[in-house]
Amino acid sequence: MLYSLFKSVAFRRDPEWVHEQTLKWLKRTSKPGKPHWFTGAVPEKPVEVMGLRFPNPVGLAAGMDKDGSCIDGFGSLGFGFLELGTVTPRPQPGNPKPRLFRLPEHEAIINRMGFNNHGVDHLLKNLADSGYTGVTGINIGKNFDTPIERAEADYLLALRAVYDKADYITVNISSPNTSNLRELQKGDAFTSLLSSLNRTRDSLAEEKDHRKPIAVKIAPDLDEAQLDFIADALLQSGLDAVIATNTTLDRTRVEGHPRAKETGGLSGEPVRERSTEVVRGLSRRLDGKLPIIGVGGISHPDHAKEKLDAGASLVQVYTGLIYRGPRLIGDIVRALP
Ligand SMILES: Cc1cc2nc3c(=O)[nH]c(=O)nc-3n(C[C@H](O)[C@H](O)[C@H](O)COP(=O)(O)O)c2cc1C
Repeated sequence: MLYSLFKSVAFRRDPEWVHEQTLKWLKRTSKPGKPHWFTGAVPEKPVEVMGLRFPNPVGLAAGMDKDGSCIDGFGSLGFGFLELGTVTPRPQPGNPKPRLFRLPEHEAIINRMGFNNHGVDHLLKNLADSGYTGVTGINIGKNFDTPIERAEADYLLALRAVYDKADYITVNISSPNTSNLRELQKGDAFTSLLSSLNRTRDSLAEEKDHRKPIAVKIAPDLDEAQLDFIADALLQSGLDAVIATNTTLDRTRVEGHPRAKETGGLSGEPVRERSTEVVRGLSRRLDGKLPIIGVGGISHPDHAKEKLDAGASLVQVYTGLIYRGPRLIGDIVRALP
């Protein structure tokens, strides 16, 4: 009710402005380690994945708090884990505005943010200043002006930078808003990136006496042969998990909408089924050897159940939070067996 009221006012304003104001408000009205009054406490439904204990399997998806500017705020909403970022080695402004669009008729969003962020050091400072003690993933990407042939260097730089502070690290090679990024999901570029990441992580693990898990985040726009290849490569790689999926380029489900032709990635309800299919396809191929984090179009407890039934061990939400509000988190957790 209260969230519907907020939405009716907020949806008349610019989406990115609302996003910024909402994060500021959440930051102001939350206390580290205390449940937010808006959501109340969320019960524990602990799960163990990637060797980490999650108080519940519902996480914040990457992109909502790219700079970690509101960690205590999101921590107060009852998430089982937060994925911060995508963060790049150096700060960058992202694409020109406007770059974020609502498609309310479809409970969807199109974004072409382009990894706007203040750089990895800024995120680490925010994390150090926060009082959040829950599970923290840090999602890393490459700078837009790093040539794709040198992408590996950016990922390794970011991996080294966040290694001590992240509970797990996500390698984002599936954003449609950084030119050619998705090419890293293919062929030698993919296998070579995975093996460099694994080698660097192993040497960091030895040096620091602590092995941190690495997850790879993939796109929904992959055919069966590409999924075969990705699953095989992941199983060979020594890496620890896969996140499925990022936003889609496919506009079939929003055809005819005035915003449908905006460049960028589509999220929310129109990507839900495809993301679930990718989770199911991966689950069949990985056969329990590598955990899957399911994300895409979750805006109801039944949608989270679909992802878990398809083989995900954890789920994440982004667009569903915008359309349904933060009580969605507790609603999902309470509906879990
Ligand atoms: C505005 C916006 C920004 C996003 N930024 C990122 C990002 O920086 N890194 C990333 O890995 N995913 C990013 N995503 C993708 C989400 O994390 C998620 O994978 C995708 O939106 C599907 O989930 P959803 O339907 O619940 O939103 C972004 C999504 C949106 C809507």
